[in-house]
Amino acid sequence: MWTVDGLLAEAVGGRVGRRFGGLDDVDVMAAEALRTAAEQVLARPQKSEFIPGARPLSRRLLAAQWTLVLESLGLPAEPKVLELCAGGSDPVVVAVDTLFGNRATYVTVNLNRKLAAELTERAQGLELQIEIIEEDAQNLNAIFPDASVDCVCFHHAVNDILQTAVAGKYGLDTRDIDWWPTERQMIEWMAEEHRKHGLAEVGLPELRAILEAAARVVKPGGALVFDHWTWEYHLALDWFPGDLFNHLIPLAREVALSLDTCLEEITPAGLDRQWWMVLRRS
Ligand SMILES: C[S@@+](CC[C@H](N)C(=O)[O-])C[C@H]1O[C@@H](n2cnc3c(N)ncnc32)[C@H](O)[C@@H]1O
Repeated sequence: MWTVDGLLAEAVGGRVGRRFGGLDDVDVMAAEALRTAAEQVLARPQKSEFIPGARPLSRRLLAAQWTLVLESLGLPAEPKVLELCAGGSDPVVVAVDTLFGNRATYVTVNLNRKLAAELTERAQGLELQIEIIEEDAQNLNAIFPDASVDCVCFHHAVNDILQTAVAGKYGLDTRDIDWWPTERQMIEWMAEEHRKHGLAEVGLPELRAILEAAARVVKPGGALVFDHWTWEYHLALDWFPGDLFNHLIPLAREVALSLDTCLEEITPAGLDRQWWMVLRRS
């Protein structure tokens, strides 16, 4: 599907790179440092960073990966793309802007207000216009008609869905929290619920409801695209449930392939199915 060099060419000087010009120092990095940083960023689990440029480069490489995956789907010329739980992260936004600019319609359904404001800020200056709907993704079918979008994207959204559901059980409303300082607590609650019942009582029911709703809003022939991977740094932390996080895509696969709405797996050859999943509505 891609090589380190192919992704670097997109991310630095290429279609994606042009969207980041002037926003970071990646364009002045030496070729050798770029390659070392890219190898760290693209290792799965992602390596701890030794090269200073790895962090901004990682944002570009992520957008490059989404650009190539979405391009491989052969979406219509004016696609409607729905992203769930974008928070403040923009790889899907950048990818859709790179491929379609203002010809695409992009909507994300999201609960946390501060992260939504960050995404609005980040998307300024792009051709693509974004819409953020503050709603629980479990209610997707009340917002979008059946078979109305071309693609639904879940960038690192499986853990977000599970964490938010578990946090609700512990009495935390995540709309107004500062996400990052609260995240460790949410993950620890999730680990506890996972130990007790494998998330069967809270977490999996919400994930199933959201995947079922997402599958219904996709047009027949349209796609659902997921990624999630882990970092070496997190896996070494004693409170971090690494085994659960290493298998979030396989977990989502098990749920997605048993929904009432029929989905088939079409993950492009060369993508690691532990960290990526592409499904098509039959
Ligand atoms: C930390 S952000 C994650 C951003 C992005 N997915 C990433 O990992 O880079 C998590 C976001 O998921 C949203 N979220 C989680 N569960 C949700 C649900 N059921 N409905 C809508 N948004 C949800 C939260 O409100 C928050 O904005």
